[in-house]
Amino acid sequence: MDQQTDRDASLREVMSSYPTGVTIVAAREGRGEPFGLTVNSFTSLSLDPPLVLVCIGQSSASHDRLIASDAFSVSLLAGDQGAIAGRFASDPSEGRFDEIEWEVGSLGAPLIGGSMAWIECSRYEVLVGGDHSILVGRVERAVVTGRDALVYQRGRLSSLGG
Ligand SMILES: Cc1cc2nc3c(=O)[nH]c(=O)nc-3n(C[C@H](O)[C@H](O)[C@H](O)COP(=O)(O)O)c2cc1C
Repeated sequence: MDQQTDRDASLREVMSSYPTGVTIVAAREGRGEPFGLTVNSFTSLSLDPPLVLVCIGQSSASHDRLIASDAFSVSLLAGDQGAIAGRFASDPSEGRFDEIEWEVGSLGAPLIGGSMAWIECSRYEVLVGGDHSILVGRVERAVVTGRDALVYQRGRLSSLGG
């Protein structure tokens, strides 16, 4: 403990200083328009069965239709996709997929082109966690590339590969 610099901080400030990867969590209603948002609360939960989770703010516009979706995708952004992270975290929610490269995954959920990895999930469980919902997905397909990851820390986006 360094007495010179240690100080009490809010949960938000501590979590902001903790580096994470950045993902786009997305789905489609039937064969309809894709929708999604920037998410860094993504983590693995279980290997057998293979489960991941994301935490979605209950006040976000995507919340209700995302937790109601039978399937969703997690596009793990690459180091050069900072603009996409910003776009999917900004209003309006509509049109985020316009003019970006994406394709329909095997479960119908959209996959963002150029990502470092993709995970396609079926909805496994939705739990309440305070003002967020914990959306648990069963991993049905996972694809990885050799691209570097996009990293988020203290409000800044950077590429892990430099
Ligand atoms: C790096 C980063 C990570 C984020 N992680 C989350 C997250 O884990 N869960 C969440 O609900 N919102 C998260 N957000 C905020 C949403 O992306 C943002 O509020 C978005 O506009 C919500 O879209 P919607 O209102 O269309 O649902 C994050 C934003 C940024 C920039």
